[in-house]
Amino acid sequence: MYIKHLALHYASAFPILWQSEKTIILFFLFTFLSSQNHFSAAQKWVKAGYWYSGSDFPISDINSALFTHLICAFANVNSSTYELSIPSNSEQNFSIFTSIVKRKNPSIVTLLSIWDGQADTYKSILGEAVNSSVLSSMLAQSSYRKSFIESSVKTARTFGFQGIDLFWLWPDSTDLSNIGTLLDEWRATVDSEPRNSSVSKLILTMGVRYSPSLQSVSYPIHSMRRNLDWAHVVAYDYHVPSSENFTGNHAALYNPSSNFSTDFGIREWLSGGYPSSKLVLGMPYHGYAWKLVNPTDNSLGAPASGPAVTLDGSMGFRSIRSFIQDYGYGARSVYNSTYVVNYFVVGSAWINFDDVETVRAKISYAKEKGLLGYNVFQVINDDNWALSLAAQDEVRQGKRSWLWLKIVLPIALISILLASLMFYYRSRIFERKGKP
Ligand SMILES: *[C@@H]1O[C@H](CO)[C@@H](O)[C@H](O)[C@H]1NC(C)=O
Ligand SMILES: *[C@@H]1O[C@H](CO)[C@@H](O)[C@H](O)[C@H]1NC(C)=O
Repeated sequence: MYIKHLALHYASAFPILWQSEKTIILFFLFTFLSSQNHFSAAQKWVKAGYWYSGSDFPISDINSALFTHLICAFANVNSSTYELSIPSNSEQNFSIFTSIVKRKNPSIVTLLSIWDGQADTYKSILGEAVNSSVLSSMLAQSSYRKSFIESSVKTARTFGFQGIDLFWLWPDSTDLSNIGTLLDEWRATVDSEPRNSSVSKLILTMGVRYSPSLQSVSYPIHSMRRNLDWAHVVAYDYHVPSSENFTGNHAALYNPSSNFSTDFGIREWLSGGYPSSKLVLGMPYHGYAWKLVNPTDNSLGAPASGPAVTLDGSMGFRSIRSFIQDYGYGARSVYNSTYVVNYFVVGSAWINFDDVETVRAKISYAKEKGLLGYNVFQVINDDNWALSLAAQDEVRQGKRSWLWLKIVLPIALISILLASLMFYYRSRIFERKGKP
């Protein structure tokens, strides 16, 4: 009687046990596989950087192994044909760029960046608005847009680039609504470009201001979302010594007392409906030096009489480091975690920049917000790749803890569950055996 009962019990219990084990195993297999997906998504993090052809930094010195994408800057727009034009003194560099950076990193993706086409282009990135008439008039007419778009695709292909970047920070409100149209047309052209299957589709990106709506101007978020592979936020130059008489943080992540911060801008982009998975954080490899009016008053917001050290106060990270070495007598830069900035003050020079700690904190922020990656301006200003190495390390650290959490934890859970299931059934058997 007892044996029969036991047999019946097992006959009915086994399928249940089997079913639930199968479910559990499937569940964990699924968790494991999806963790693998997350893992490879993390590997696809965009680690991009600009190389400016006007600098005399040799392309071959770029450590491209530290990047996934490199952006070659800048192509101009011809004011009569609206076609792209590469400055003649850069043509040689543009044509060898991709093959040279692929030597140290065969899987690097290169993009061609387009600027406004004015002669004195580089300075204006770090300073005031420029006359953007060429791009404005290109945007306003369908036939001009067509010339621009077609020549951009042709030029990118001719020079071996795998993507196109529009870097234009001062469009007005008319420009911005026209940009929405341009992006629709640009995307359609890129998608329908005749190409053989071994060539991948061109990437489309755009450099944008730190916040999507400023001074009654707002970006065409829906068109951008539809058409761009990503937008990189130019999250720096908030305060510069050539236009302000008080010391200020030029690229603070946080600002408890104003909206001039990267966190404010990123939150505006996200709440405006732009997806974090298409947003790339711009990071400066430069800082600014202010000349203090009174060297003993060297706080944030202290009176300043203009730029120090250089003409406009801008300094690459490498030259800031060598300045500190020359004038710091062993002192280091000070990290402030309230704003996420670094300072170095000596005499009447007040320097504000991103050192290693700041870069790490920004990467960690970008990961927390689920952004697509980062984009540095510009790679040549790094010092022995200290900032890029720190950035890469911060990305990897996250991956390691992710891996730990997603693989080791499920295995531990499976073991605990199986052990307790076994324990449960054994005790059931003993319980029954114990009964008369
Ligand atoms: C623009 O294109 C026209 C026609 O091809 C050419 O003559 C002119 O030199 C170009 N302008 C510049 C600034 O390259
Ligand atoms: C950062 O600087 C501000 C302004 O000088 C100061 O109030 C704050 O306490 C500093 N934060 C840290 C963590 O030192």
